[in-house]
Amino acid sequence: MLTNRDLEEKVATSDAWIVQRTGIRERRIAAPDETTSKLGIAAAKAAIADAGLEAAEIDLIVCATSTPDYTFPSTATQIQDGLGIQGGAAFDVQAVCTGFIYGLATADKFLQSGSHRRALVVGAETFSRILDWTDRGTCVLFGDGAGAVVLESADEDGSGRGILTTQLRSDGRYRDRLYVDGGPGSTGTTGHLRMEGRDVFKFAVGKVMDVVNEAFASAGVSAAELDWFVPHQANRRIIEASADKLGIPRGKVVITVDRHGNTSAASIPLALDVARRDGRIKRGDLVMLEAIGGGFTWGSALLRW
Ligand code: UT7
Repeated sequence: MLTNRDLEEKVATSDAWIVQRTGIRERRIAAPDETTSKLGIAAAKAAIADAGLEAAEIDLIVCATSTPDYTFPSTATQIQDGLGIQGGAAFDVQAVCTGFIYGLATADKFLQSGSHRRALVVGAETFSRILDWTDRGTCVLFGDGAGAVVLESADEDGSGRGILTTQLRSDGRYRDRLYVDGGPGSTGTTGHLRMEGRDVFKFAVGKVMDVVNEAFASAGVSAAELDWFVPHQANRRIIEASADKLGIPRGKVVITVDRHGNTSAASIPLALDVARRDGRIKRGDLVMLEAIGGGFTWGSALLRW
């Protein structure tokens, strides 16, 4: 665990500034031998056990990550191997902080097509490895972690459970607002995360509103019917401003950024895990997920738990 106080010893920052501007109090940092796939395997095992399944019953693995173990093979195939699965398909999706929504949408469409039956969607990141630890504008914001869900195709049983709609968007003109300044095809290095925080903040609140409202319209439900709002965990101020504008009461908003920091594609599944374990999210609940990330990419997913 890395607290704000620990960061005060690394860069010119303060616990008060970080808490007031972001709501973050602490974040987790992976040990040197803990790769993204190792975090993903642990999350995947927990999700598969929780679903009451055997790993071999999974025939699709989608891993959302921007911090893969290797340039290739995909982190999803490392997770597949770690789970002892030899069949089916495994691949990564890369939509930065929106990665889990993109992964969920992808898996949902595979299941709906009938080509696959049980999908594991993992969001796993080790952002600590791409941070510039001398840049106080970014290094205080992020953390490491992984979360996972299992989706299973099932005949409609009248319960209305499942993914009701996913909305995916991107606009590549915004690359320089949030990016990593390296890569195998450009510098040949891994690079470091760079962000124009203020620009991202403004864009985030507006675009989140759009995709959440589009999801409500597409599914024919209203904000008043929502049980839980589980947004990407980047900044408490962005989350609360978005919820207020959408008319979602603060009591229905799941916030974990205080404990995890921004874990990019892992933030939503980590928040889902916390809210399910503590008894907030229950079977049959209407849950809205949303995220925005580098690219820019953004999106939402509305589901009946
Ligand atoms: O997950 C992908 C999406 N990412 C996000 O959603 C992040 C979006 N952006 C944000 O969350 C916020 O913009 C930040 C938390 C990054 C920054 O908050 P802000 O209220 O927009 O602050 P700012 O960038 O306008 O900076 C205010 C001041 C500056 O000083 P001056 O120029 O006013 O003298 C910064 O230099 O705060 C200073 N500052 C810091 N001070 C102490 C920047 N970082 C720090 C720091 N500690 N860590």
